[in-house]
Amino acid sequence: MNQTLSIRRVAGALGAELSGVDLSQPLSDDTIAAIRQALVEHQVIFFRDQTLTPAQQVAFGARFGPLNIHPYVTGMASQPEVMEIIKEPSDKINFGGGWHSDMSFLETPAVGSILYALELPEYGGDTLFASQAAAYDALSDGLKRTLEGLSAVHSASREYAPGGASAQKRGAMQVAEADGLVGEFVHPMVLIHPETGRKALYVNPAFTLKIDGWKPSESKALLDYLFQHCRYEAFTCRFAWQKGSVAFWDNRSVWHFALNDYPGQRRRMRRVTVDPWPAMAATARVAAE
Ligand code: SIN
Repeated sequence: MNQTLSIRRVAGALGAELSGVDLSQPLSDDTIAAIRQALVEHQVIFFRDQTLTPAQQVAFGARFGPLNIHPYVTGMASQPEVMEIIKEPSDKINFGGGWHSDMSFLETPAVGSILYALELPEYGGDTLFASQAAAYDALSDGLKRTLEGLSAVHSASREYAPGGASAQKRGAMQVAEADGLVGEFVHPMVLIHPETGRKALYVNPAFTLKIDGWKPSESKALLDYLFQHCRYEAFTCRFAWQKGSVAFWDNRSVWHFALNDYPGQRRRMRRVTVDPWPAMAATARVAAE
């Protein structure tokens, strides 16, 4: 189906709300291309008033790439690619409650995440997004030159190891703890976006352990500086969810943070996570070298 999109930016650095499209319908290649163009341009895009079954969310997500099955969070029995992100009133911590980029701990990190809101607290529960392209642009030329030769080690070990924030037991989500075999993967600290050519910082406080080849104390000093810099408010936007809202973000250039400011209330979302097409992954690696 061909649909005409309207696009309204929501903040200076990133974020746009798209209207005029029903994501539950089979969409034409032109409409998918327009959504993809909006995503790479605005880095995170939002839709309102959608009604999606898990199968429809999978069908929409699969137009952008193969869907990831999360290695630690059990997906829905009927659709393992769909992860339910649920905070029960009795849960103290939420999932995604810290700045991160989804799945940077994998050898081939996810390119996009599509989150759909089913049930929201009466207040709170917004998600923050931060443009890592804007964060890169704001660095001095000297630091940009330094970073371009560097890579960083990413791993799920800290977050998903016993006691890690992401591995904490929750009322309704099944999250496995990482065992001793969890991998470490090295990614360039500056990614060149394979579709726009724009550069973005690619380190995050949840999954980046250290700068490859640096002493721990040297690595900590620079990463601490970058983690502070990368969340400066001018690089961010904030999304206030309503039932039926969808956010679609580009993990190659965006951090996000699910706010945990609604104690005693329930929030239920569904996420599908898009992996790169194999050819695109190869391009991203070559471009970043
Ligand atoms: C996530 O990190 O994917 C969760 C974001 C949210 O629940 O707002």
